[in-house]
Amino acid sequence: MTGLRHYLQFKDFSREEYDYVFERAKWIKSKFKRYEPYHPLFDRTLVMIFEKASTRTRLSFEAGMQQLGGSAIYLNTRDSQLGRGEPVEDAGQVISRMSDLVMIRTFEQDIVERFAANSRVPVINGLTNEYHPCQILADIFTFIEHRGPIQGKTVAWIGDSNNMCNTWLQAAEVLDFHVHVSTPPGYEVEPERAGLYGTDHFRQFADPLEACKGAHLVTTDVWTSMGFEAENEARMKAFADWCVDAEMMSVAAPDAVFMHCLPAHRGEEVTAEVIDGPQSVVWDEAENRLHAQKALMEFLMLGRIED
Ligand code: CP
Ligand code: NVA
Repeated sequence: MTGLRHYLQFKDFSREEYDYVFERAKWIKSKFKRYEPYHPLFDRTLVMIFEKASTRTRLSFEAGMQQLGGSAIYLNTRDSQLGRGEPVEDAGQVISRMSDLVMIRTFEQDIVERFAANSRVPVINGLTNEYHPCQILADIFTFIEHRGPIQGKTVAWIGDSNNMCNTWLQAAEVLDFHVHVSTPPGYEVEPERAGLYGTDHFRQFADPLEACKGAHLVTTDVWTSMGFEAENEARMKAFADWCVDAEMMSVAAPDAVFMHCLPAHRGEEVTAEVIDGPQSVVWDEAENRLHAQKALMEFLMLGRIED
């Protein structure tokens, strides 16, 4: 790998690079499980910038960086000049002179793009209104662990065409699988906003049950994402029938798994029976944020490692 690389959207890496990163994640995870120290990022500093709340993303990046031998610094809008109107371009210049890697969780995708354009170090998208590539990285790693390669498989996305949905759609193009999307009317996928090359890898379904038929993975997310709270009341009404339940799981493939990026609202986008049931892999999915992102940070900082 030559030159500075960022991870701002799922399509920033090729299929072959994902094959490599998933192999590294598996290796790094197994070493971690054997309590074997691995410090390839000794003395390196990750800066994490949060303009929205987080549990998993903060924890997995901070713990992951420490476990790789480096350290992590947490900044948020409230306590830094970012919340007082400092231009994002200036923040990119300054923060990247004092660190080796930056992760940002913010609102519009344009903010991470502008930060990255002014950064001397790799920048990772830790969630924007449009995309959540780190989550899908962990989700696909989890699917591979449980069921093998995802190529040619079908993912059913039930609910909002949000940052998670857009990223699943990009992943389907890069890794060659299919997504069946079912959203309420008025909340359909916008291919341009999702950053898609075409429409070959997804189909939209009016009926969520139809979308789940034969799927190898059924997944959903909150009805109201961070930043869209003002729409909550309207969304609660519009999404009422887009709750993943046992009937939807029963028409999926017999060995289908259920995923949710979390946090979840039982009784809204998914029933307790499904998320706490035998097909759910949500805890492995959450844990794999740690392992997948360690492989991502290693790749962005050091390129390919020859074992
Ligand atoms: N799934 C996810 O990104 O969780 P957090 O919002 O807790 O970081
Ligand atoms: N779509 C959700 C994901 C949270 C991890 C949101 O953006 O709030």
